[in-house]
Amino acid sequence: MHTPETNVTGDGFCASDFSAAARSWWDSDADDYHARHPTYLGVDGAEFYWCPEMLHESTARLLGRPAELRGASILELGCGSAPCSRWLAQDLGDSTFITAFDISAAMLRHAGDHRGVDLVQADAMALPYRGDSFDVVFSAFGAIPFVSDSAALMREVARVLRPGGRFVFSVTHPMRWIFTDDPGPTGLTAVNSYFSGDYVERDERNGRITYAEQHRTMGERLGELTDAGFRLERLLEPEWPADLDVSWGQWSPLRGGIFPGSAIFCSTLD
Ligand SMILES: C[S@@+](CC[C@H](N)C(=O)[O-])C[C@H]1O[C@@H](n2cnc3c(N)ncnc32)[C@H](O)[C@@H]1O
Repeated sequence: MHTPETNVTGDGFCASDFSAAARSWWDSDADDYHARHPTYLGVDGAEFYWCPEMLHESTARLLGRPAELRGASILELGCGSAPCSRWLAQDLGDSTFITAFDISAAMLRHAGDHRGVDLVQADAMALPYRGDSFDVVFSAFGAIPFVSDSAALMREVARVLRPGGRFVFSVTHPMRWIFTDDPGPTGLTAVNSYFSGDYVERDERNGRITYAEQHRTMGERLGELTDAGFRLERLLEPEWPADLDVSWGQWSPLRGGIFPGSAIFCSTLD
C-alpha cells in the first residue's frame, strides 16, 4: 500500500514514535488515498474487502454468519474511514453493537454516514476498552503492521475480547517483504532477507520516523497470536482473481498470479 524508497532499521525508537508517524502519515494521505481507491473503500456507500485481492466479507463470512453475529459486540482495529464496519452495520442491522477506531482523525473524517457504527480516535497500543468487552475483533490491514510491538497488540486484543471470541485480521503476506515494492517485473526478484528488516522511512533533517511498517515472518505472526492465547482456525492466502486488472502499490496481476500478497488470520480466544 506504499512505495518504499529506502530500507533501514527501526531500532532505537519507541512505540509512540511509530504511533506519531502513523497518525501524521495517514492524516496527510487520507484525501489522496480515498481518491485513489473509491471502489475498495466504498466511497459512495460501504464495502468490506479484506485485501487488494478483493475478497469480500459477503462471500467469505470470516467473522461468522449474520445469524451468529446478531446481538454481538464487534470492534474494528485501525478502521480508517470504517468502510468494513459501515458495511457490517448495514448487513447486520440495529441489533449489533459495532465500534471502530483509528489513530488518524483525517481518515475517520472520511467515514461519511456511519449510522450503526461508533467511531473513536485511539491508538491501538492503548485500547480504551475494558476487559471482556467484545465478541469479535477484526482488522483489514489496519494498525497491526504499523505498531512497533504487534505481540503487545495481540495481548491487548485478547484482553478486550471475551473468552471464545473471534479475532480475524489481514496483513501483507510475510513473504512479500523479500521483494521490492514494485508491481512490475523488477518486483519479482528477491532482494531482502525474509528473516529480518522492518521498513522505516525517516525525515533526514531531524531523524524522525515518517512512515513505518513492521515485518513479521509467518512463524512470528503465528507465535504472537498463540502466545496471546489465540487458537488459529484458518489461514487464508487469497489468490489473485483472473478478472481483476488493477494495480495497487506492489499488488498487481503479474505478482498476484505467482505468489500471495495478503494473509488473513482467523482465530478464536481459548
Ligand atoms: C491501510 S489502512 C486500513 C484501514 C481500512 N481497512 C482501509 O482499507 O482503508 C491502515 C489504517 O491503520 C491506521 N493505524 C495505523 N497505526 C495505528 C495505530 N497505532 N492505532 C490505530 N490505528 C492505526 C491508519 O491510521 C490507517 O487508517
